[in-house]
Amino acid sequence: MNAIEVNVKNGYKVIVDNGIFDKIPEYALTLADYTTVTIVSDSNVAPLYIERLKKGFLRANKRVLTYVIEAGEQSKNLSNYAAILSFLANNDFKRKDLLVALGGGVVGDLTGFVASTYHRGVDFIQVPTTLLAGIDSSVGGKTAVDIKEGKNLVGAFYQPKGVFFDIETLNTLPEKEMINGFGELVKYGILMGGTLWKNLLSDNLSLENCIADSIRYKAEIVEKDEFDNGVRALLNLGHTLAHSVENLSGYTVPHGLAVGYGIRRIAKACKNNGLLQNSEYEQIINVLDKFSLTYIAPFSDNALIRASVKDKKAFADSINIIVINAIGNCSIQKFKLDKLGEFFND
Ligand SMILES: NC(=O)c1ccc[n+]([C@@H]2O[C@H](COP(=O)([O-])OP(=O)(O)OC[C@H]3O[C@@H](n4cnc5c(N)ncnc54)[C@H](O)[C@@H]3O)[C@@H](O)[C@H]2O)c1
Repeated sequence: MNAIEVNVKNGYKVIVDNGIFDKIPEYALTLADYTTVTIVSDSNVAPLYIERLKKGFLRANKRVLTYVIEAGEQSKNLSNYAAILSFLANNDFKRKDLLVALGGGVVGDLTGFVASTYHRGVDFIQVPTTLLAGIDSSVGGKTAVDIKEGKNLVGAFYQPKGVFFDIETLNTLPEKEMINGFGELVKYGILMGGTLWKNLLSDNLSLENCIADSIRYKAEIVEKDEFDNGVRALLNLGHTLAHSVENLSGYTVPHGLAVGYGIRRIAKACKNNGLLQNSEYEQIINVLDKFSLTYIAPFSDNALIRASVKDKKAFADSINIIVINAIGNCSIQKFKLDKLGEFFND
């Protein structure tokens, strides 16, 4: 079992292991003596896992409520946010009770945002069931919903009380969702280097170790910059072009594939501009291919760059891009917008 500490002001543990699912209620109930537990999940995950989780809390004589949203990004919206708040209020869910996010990043972000505002903040735990949520979105306290003007535009920094990731839940995850998670996993590999990168290169990869290393890396970054004013931007490696691809494709290209493409392009640009050694560039391309991150965007560089300017990470006449100097050594570099085309030029 890996128990990774996230040492922020209200610190917590991320527990990662195979086969811990039925123990999660027991772990959660060591946090405080809750009366009511509300489990939020989605229409794909709930039929698979919600009864098992519920059973454990019932066995401990807790009152258990469940709330299931339609699966998919379109559910991460203000009307579900408001509906869950009303559900909690109508069911006498109190300030000292516990919310549980059971699912992927959509459920996690939405439930976390509810938790951050209901009664000005109630306890919540994350029970991620996708690779992306397990290594990325469940850790670090970013919660949000989308509005029509943009993704994740309304949200809060609000840390969970604990994260409990049973890797066995990935056995039911569709392959395309695994590949989505691989996009973020390769990102962590390049950022961290070391054991994680070696593992990704290996023919005998240990997914559990990859997951634990990614979380450890994310925890360290969050500890240094909980509110995303500095080094946390490193986690956007590959994401500027990825967001452009998602925008230009009307969100038909899955996030992980878009991130894979973003990493491919930034790695090539870094090699072409003399920042990254050719041998490491080739390793990156091989790892992207190995994890089926082979999508190539059909959009012109001009269109991609124009779209990135609209992205929320762009400032007036310049944009921060995460560059790869070496595997395990990335940095934040500010580019004048009119120089970006040159940088990405093949
Ligand atoms: N808060 C953060 O720091 C952060 C970071 C990265 C991404 N995100 C957000 O995360 C979201 C994407 O998360 P995601 O990729 O987990 O998507 P998701 O939550 O939509 O899950 C993907 C799909 O897999 C299904 N699913 C989940 N677990 C399953 C399982 N074990 N078995 C079978 N089906 C399962 C879901 O029902 C859904 O259809 C986006 O909204 C993104 O903005 C947040």
